[in-house]
Amino acid sequence: LREHEEFTKVKNIATIELGRYEIETWYFSPFPPECNDSLKLYFCEFCLNFMKRKEQLQRHMRKCDLKHPPGDEIYRSGTLSMFEVDGKKNKVYGQNLCYLAKLFLDHKTLYYDVDLFLFYVLCECDDRGCHMVGYFSKEKHSEESYNLACILTLPPYQRKGYGKFLIAFSYELSKKEGKVGTPERPLSDLGLLSYRGYWTRVLLDILKKHKGNISIKELSDMTAIKAEDILATLQGLELIQYRKGQHVICADPKVLDRHLKAAGRGGLEVDVSKLIWTPYK
Ligand code: ACO
Ligand code: ZN
Repeated sequence: LREHEEFTKVKNIATIELGRYEIETWYFSPFPPECNDSLKLYFCEFCLNFMKRKEQLQRHMRKCDLKHPPGDEIYRSGTLSMFEVDGKKNKVYGQNLCYLAKLFLDHKTLYYDVDLFLFYVLCECDDRGCHMVGYFSKEKHSEESYNLACILTLPPYQRKGYGKFLIAFSYELSKKEGKVGTPERPLSDLGLLSYRGYWTRVLLDILKKHKGNISIKELSDMTAIKAEDILATLQGLELIQYRKGQHVICADPKVLDRHLKAAGRGGLEVDVSKLIWTPYK
């Protein structure tokens, strides 16, 4: 991962403090010029305002009355909650989130026109408040059927299944909209690995249940995964043959089982019964 840094702008902020974590950054992020002489920035973990000095943050924490992201809680299961933040109603929060996210995203052009986006912020909640674990952004209206623009799990929370939870969540929203979706390109290496893992597991589970007797179109209708992504995933698993000008799924049960074993853990499940949401109008 680190080798990317050579090709991007020189990193400005080396570390950030966020809640109880001190986090080393990965990439350049275009913070306002007055921040550029600081190696470390201090974030309020709730409103995401950032400051150059610890004392400023301490003063801020005494008067900041947020204990969760500004917006509607649309999902709660156990200690896990998802908040939907409208970039138009919460511009500063949206911008702060983009600055923060860019520290861990390389080749993404981040949109600072946050009006056009909704932000889905995943939190672990306890008696001190709701602590951000990660998020994804989504265009309010996408011509290209993107159902996710940027996704991030904060480094202290990575590799615990939150990424796959966020991806699964983005497809649950698409299902509620009655649309298929796909992530905005390009994907980072880690983004591609996570998506491939998610697509593989979801598709293999269905193929196993239906003993392979199912079309790509039907798979797409069931999962809200775009047909092209299904085809690419199944081709990668060598489950597609090309017969008489048509792609056909060839799902030998033994091959399915082998792939399923290799696909690893399923990750945190989205409990759809706990999602209370209507599509953006
Ligand atoms: N090394 C190898 N494989 C990895 C790694 C890693 N460091 N991280 C994730 N993976 C793969 C694994 O296959 C993993 O599944 P497994 O643990 O069952 O083997 C799978 O990805 C997903 O793991 P999760 O724990 O569910 O994902 P995580 O919470 O770590 O989040 C994410 C993944 C969001 C991509 C995270 O790595 C991240 O925030 N990276 C920085 C930002 C980024 O690159 N975002 C994607 C950009 S593309 C876009 O936004 C459209
Ligand atoms: Zn605050």
